[in-house]
Parts: sequence; C-alpha cells; structure tokens
Amino acid sequence: MAKGNQQPKQPKFRKDYRASDYLIDQVTMTVDLYESHAEIYSQLHIRTNPAVPAPASSLCLDGEELALKSIAIDGQPLPASRYEQDEDSLTLHDLPAQFLLETVVHIAPQNNTRLEGLYKSGGKFCTQCEAEGFRRITFFLDRPDVLATYDVTVRAEQAKYPHLLSNGNPAGQGELDGGRHFARWLDPFPKPCYLFALVAGDFDLLADQFITTSGRKVDLKIYVDKGKLDQCAHAMASVKNSMRWDEQKYGREYDLDIYQIVAVSDFNMGAMENKGLNIFNTKYVLANRETATDTDYEGVESVIGHEYFHNWTGNRVTCRDWFQLSLKEGLTVFRDQQFSADMGSPTVKRMDDVRVMRTAQFSEDGGPMAHPIRPDSYVEMNNFYTVTVYNKGAEVIRMLHTLLGEQGFRKGMDLYFQRHDGQAVTCDDFVQAHADANAVDLTQFQRWYSQAGTPTVAVSDDFDAEKNEYHLTLKQHCAPTPGQPQKEPFLIPFRIGLLDEQGNELALDWQQGTQRSQSAVLPFAAAEQTFVFRGVSSRPLPSLLRDFSAPVKLEFGYRDEQLAFLLQHDSNLFNRWDASQTLASRVLLQLAADFRASKALTLPTILAEALRAVLRDDAVDNAVRARILQLPDIAYLQEQVEIVDIDALVAAQRFLRRQLAQSLYADLLACQQRHRGAGGTDGAAIGKRALANACLALLIDSDRSEAYALAEQQARDADNMTDRFAAVKALAHSAAPQRLMVLNAFAERFKDQALVMDKWFAVQASAPIASVLDDIRRLETHPAFDARNPNKIRALWLAFSHGNPSEFHRADGSGYQFIAERVARLNDSNPQVAARLVSCFNRWKKFDDQRQRLMLAQLKALLGKSGLSADVFEIVSKSVAA
Ligand code: TRP
Ligand code: ZN
Repeated sequence: MAKGNQQPKQPKFRKDYRASDYLIDQVTMTVDLYESHAEIYSQLHIRTNPAVPAPASSLCLDGEELALKSIAIDGQPLPASRYEQDEDSLTLHDLPAQFLLETVVHIAPQNNTRLEGLYKSGGKFCTQCEAEGFRRITFFLDRPDVLATYDVTVRAEQAKYPHLLSNGNPAGQGELDGGRHFARWLDPFPKPCYLFALVAGDFDLLADQFITTSGRKVDLKIYVDKGKLDQCAHAMASVKNSMRWDEQKYGREYDLDIYQIVAVSDFNMGAMENKGLNIFNTKYVLANRETATDTDYEGVESVIGHEYFHNWTGNRVTCRDWFQLSLKEGLTVFRDQQFSADMGSPTVKRMDDVRVMRTAQFSEDGGPMAHPIRPDSYVEMNNFYTVTVYNKGAEVIRMLHTLLGEQGFRKGMDLYFQRHDGQAVTCDDFVQAHADANAVDLTQFQRWYSQAGTPTVAVSDDFDAEKNEYHLTLKQHCAPTPGQPQKEPFLIPFRIGLLDEQGNELALDWQQGTQRSQSAVLPFAAAEQTFVFRGVSSRPLPSLLRDFSAPVKLEFGYRDEQLAFLLQHDSNLFNRWDASQTLASRVLLQLAADFRASKALTLPTILAEALRAVLRDDAVDNAVRARILQLPDIAYLQEQVEIVDIDALVAAQRFLRRQLAQSLYADLLACQQRHRGAGGTDGAAIGKRALANACLALLIDSDRSEAYALAEQQARDADNMTDRFAAVKALAHSAAPQRLMVLNAFAERFKDQALVMDKWFAVQASAPIASVLDDIRRLETHPAFDARNPNKIRALWLAFSHGNPSEFHRADGSGYQFIAERVARLNDSNPQVAARLVSCFNRWKKFDDQRQRLMLAQLKALLGKSGLSADVFEIVSKSVAA
C-alpha cells in the first residue's frame, strides 16, 4: 500500500478557482460487476465550455487506480500519442470542440478498503463518490461544477445481486446470458458526479408511497440487510415526515418518481444524498425499541431529514467548488435542525445542538485545523467535512434567519431556488439572494464566511437610577487563527431579555446612536457598542445570548446567586439550562483550582440546592431537567480554560458527581422512581426516560450498593434499549461489582446485532477506569470486532481517543501510544477514518508540558512514516506546525 517517499500533496486554494475548459453534458455508463473486478464502459459527451474564452486543446481527466482497457474518440480508437496516463489523471491532446469519449476501465471493488468509489460491503456493491470518489470509478472531470445527465446500466449475477440500483428513474431491466441480469436507470436532472450512486446486492425491501402536494405519486424504498425489516419503520416514517415538512416549510416537492435508501454496514460517514438513491450507514436507518435508544431514533430522523433536504439544498442547487461546501452542508444542517425541532421539542433540540458547538466546534476553532466555514485552502477535501463547515455553517444560516425573520428568510430561500435551480453556485450567491430578496446589505455579515475562530463577547452593564436607564456594553474579540492574525468585527445578533427582581420580563425599549427599537435582538456590529435601555426603574438582571443566538463565547460577571436565579426564573427555558451549565462549570473549575492548590474540596450548597429544586419542580420539562442534571463534561470545560490540567478537572468532576449524588440521594431516587418505566415513543415518554436515567447515572456515582442494584435490575428487565443501555452504561462506568456480569449478559443477548454491539464496544472504551487499555486490546480480538469497519473503529478507538479524556491523557502516555499505533495501521487501509482518529492530538498545545511532549512525539513519529496518506499528513503536519 505504502507508496514509498512520495511528495506530500499540494494544497488547493479557493482564489485559484477557474471554470472548466470542458463540460460533460451527458454520461452513458455500463457497469459490469464480477467477483474479481468491475468493468466500466463510459461514454462521455464532451464539449468546450462556452463561458471560457480560449479553452485549451488538451483535457486532463481525473482517474485513480483505473486500469485503462480501451479508449476512443468519436468511435475511433485513440492512438497512444494523443493521450497519457499517470497516477491520478488521463490527459487527452488535440481535441475537437465537441466529441464523444469512450473508455473501458477495470477496477477492483473487492479490494477497496478506503470505502471511496465502488466497494463491497457485506457482500453487496455500493459507492461513495463525495467528495472525490467518482474518479476511482471512471475517468471524469471530478469537480462539482460539471453537471451531466446520466444513463446507467448495471449488470451482475442475478442470484447474488437481485437488486441493481442507480440514480434517477428505472428504465428497464432484463436477463442476460450466464445467469446474469441488468437494470437501466435514467437520471434526467443534471448533476455533479459526486452525486452518482450504484448499488448491487441482495436485500430485504420496505416499500411505501408518498403523494406530493401537487398530486404526484412517489415510490419509497428502503433496502436493508436480510432479516432487518423489523427495524425499518422509523426510517420510513421519517422519510415521509421529511417530504411533507419540506413542502410545508419551504414549498419544495420531490422531483423523481422514486426515492430509495440503501443501508450498508461499511460507511465512512453518516449517509450520502446521491440523487434519488441515498446510501446510509445502517446506524441511521435501523431502529426498533429493543435495539435503539431514543437518541438513536432522533439520529435516524435527523439524518434521513438531512439527506432528503439535500435534494434541494445540494442537488438541485449544488456547489461550484468544494470550498463552498457549507453552501449545502451548513444550510442542510440548519434545515434538519429546524425539522427535528418541529418534530419534537425546539428548546431541547437547541440545547443538544449548542452542546456540539461548545465542545467539538469551539475546540476545532481553537486548534491547528481552525478554518472559516468557507475554507481558503485544503490539502485533502475529506478533512473539511467538519463541525465548522457543518455545524458552525448551520449557526451562520440561523443568524441570517434571526436577522431577516422567518418570512424574510423564506423570501431569500425562494429567490435562491428561483435564481439558481440547476446551477453550481457559491456562498456569495446564497447571501446575495437573501440580501436582494430583503433589500438589505449583508456585507458585514459575510465575514462569518471568511473569518475563522470563535469570537468572545464580553458584556458589562451599568444602571443609572436617576435617569432610569440601563446600559449594556458589548465588546467583541476574536483570537488569531492559522493564517488570520487580525479579525474585523462580526455582525452578531445578540438576543437578550431583562428580568426584574421577581423574574418578570421587562419590556425592551433601547436606543443605540439614532436607532431605537423594541426588538430583543441587539445588532451588535462594532468592536465595542453600548445599548441604552429606557424606563427601567430598578437594576435588572440580564439574560444574555438567549438561545445561543450567535456562535460566540460569552463573558459576563454574574454572581453565583444570579445564575441560580436565572436557572430558576428565566422565562427563556434555553437560558435556564444555560445558567445551570455556567454555574456548574464555575463550580467545577473552582474545584479543579482547589485540587491543584491541594486544598480540601467542598461541595458548594448553591449548586446542590439549585439542582434539588430542579429535581422537585415537576412543572419543568423533563427532557430539560435531564439535560440540567447532565453537568458539563471535560470536553465542555476544556474550552473554558487556557491550559487543561486534566488530572484536576477529572478529580473535580469525580468529586462533584459523588458529592451531589450523596447529598441529593433521596431527591434523585424519588425523581427517578416517579418517572421511570414510561412506555411509548412520544415526547412525554422520551422526556421521562431521559430524566429517570439522568437521575440513575448520578445515583450510581454515590457508589451505594442500593443504586447498583437498581441499575442491575433495569439492565436486565428493561423493555426498551433506552432504559437498558442507560443502566448498562452507568454500571460500566462505575466500580460496581456487577459491572462485568451486566456487560457479559448484554453481549450475549445482542451478539447478532452489529449496531448494538457497537454500543457495547463504545461503552467499554469510554469507561474512565484504569484497565481500559487492556480491555480494548481484548475487545480487538472479539469476534464482533472488525478493524476494517468504520463503525467498529468509531466504537472502540474513537470512543477512547475522543470520549475518554481521563484515560486517553494518562500521564504515562500509554493512551497516546495506543492510538498512534492504530492510526499508522489505519492510514494504509482507510485514510479518511485514520485522519479522524489522529485528530485527537490536535489540541496538544492545551495540555501540560509533559503531555505536550508525549503527544508531539507521537505526531512527529507519524509524520516520519513513509506512505502517509494525504488525509493523515494534512492533519498531522498542521498540528506539528502549530
Ligand atoms: N454529504 C454527506 C452528508 O452531508 C457527507 C458524506 C457522506 C461524506 N459520505 C461522505 C463526505 C464521504 C465525505 C466523504 O450527509
Ligand atoms: Zn450533508
């Protein structure tokens, strides 16, 4: 595999974009699948691009690991003098302005462990072409601004591969000699090749129908591994909900006669929006009460929604180049977030999304891989499918939505679709449509697309009792990020409320300069700005950055009592939760400081009593209470300190959880007993389960045998995976004597359910216990483990590297060593996933000297490895350079 001392791949720059000299309008492909290889016969209708003044007479097509068997132009075999092939391209010379290129290539899907291009998963053929996988199937202009219609015929052995699928509508099928058969598919919508898909295999099929608002009938099909039909109902319901929602919310209907989803068990990411033929990781399709938790159900619904919504935001309107990825991803994440909010609880959905921002995204923004949501350069595009492009991208769309309002945003979206349907466009085009539709200037807002990093907003206030005025002064600052030493001020929609002593909301009447408004969203646009509120008779308590109205860090000198007050009284439910997180973070950081100073640790009563009140107040939404009880984890705290003292943070966390468990024991138990055992799948039942299980997790930290017994019984007798797994997890992360027995029983019961076994692997790999590395080594030899399967890699290795801070960062460096060894191996079989794994070292500079040295040593050793993939090289080299 290793290619010796190759040159590191050169970066590509956004500023270097040029339109293609040639276009490909139409593709006819015949794909013949065999056990030993696949043969791809492609006919490309190519012409020079009329938008390019003087197109070159030669054309460089992308192509990797393709064995060229024949090549012809306009029916004439091409002489060797007219083309040359190298490792990643095929260049044709002396071309006419318009021609038909025919090639036959052979590829080896059965050996494709990268899972990019055409590969085999569980005996089936499937594809993954985004971002640059199509070039591993046939020679092509593999760039998203080359849009073609496709006519695809798939041929394979009938008995082994009864289902032959591709994009678009079915256009015939039949038998061939030698036990083979074929199916033909026509996709009338011009698309970039990254949306191409092909599947061949033997599946169970769940079929249904959807009638669009305009009365068109759409066939819905979900293909899954044999025997999994009892796990498809939720996915199908989610498809129909998504289709209806996009019609109602955005006026967007589905456009083909058939919409298909195929679930495969080997997949690098979550799912892929290929036109009319989405390919999914089984994790985001399969679910029933016995095998999937409520969180898994939400994951299925949101990913099904996400891929479906791409049909308009991504497929009908696509990206001009990969720097524009957030055009489709940020927007589609925003749409799937809105969808999930509408299907369930908007506030709870917001809390979960904000947690991802404050942990994973803030961490990325503060490290060596920091990039704007529209990056300026990349070495390997796969590395830019990030929380920044996706989740911060969605936050940027959300801010636009906040600034324009629901109706203004819809007007902008309508104009965007009207202008750009069928085109490959840029983020600027998107913002321009919104600016034009609303007659506003969004120039400053566009800095969110160009500047990386997380701004900090420092707030101070002042009350003038004589004038009855309250002043809020906001200052913003954004630290330098790689390549961006200086930042200009962002336009920050800053949502607030003011509370009086009883917790009543004050009417807002504010002025800034000449502008006067009653809006609760302050348009904060300068480095420093003061907003003056009139008619305020006593000093109010501000409720700031409500609903996380911008992706920033907030600084305000709340006293602990004020946070406790907000936690109890804020009319904004999101900010009640937020106050709990801020208060608990402070307590944890103070405990960590005390630990470092060898002081005795004590539990602050203010936090304990605030949580006790939450446990007793059944008027508060249960799902919200569950999240308040969750307490900030290490990943959350890590973003609030300069240097992470991991030992101190871990000690603080253990102390706090144990003390809370003991001092709140009776209330936790009572709350757990009041809410446990909820049946049903509705929001109320989900909320009760979440709350009861959050209580259980804390109860376990009391280390009382009574709590262990409670969990043991729940792990055994629960009638759903949410409750069963919550109990298993609580015990697996404890010192309970039942730990191993419960884990073994769980494995015995679910040994044939791959996705459940992933949970079993992950819960052990993330256990904060001293033996975890030995456990993981043993689990690597378990029959259900497979080092070629990304889900298993995530379950065992990423759950440790990214989800087990105390053990990953062991002072002896054994955690680092363990992961680096696996990165080195994975580099050869699956670089894309290897790059994800190695990212656990990105924040090495945030740790103490000793750990810095240990992490850096692993990074440098990896950098010296020959045959390093572009994927891993980019991450490691940027980390080392930091
Ligand atoms: N476009 C996909 C999505 O957002 C992401 C994706 C799936 C992907 N598979 C991939 C990106 C492989 C890069 C490589 O849902
Ligand atoms: Zn997407």
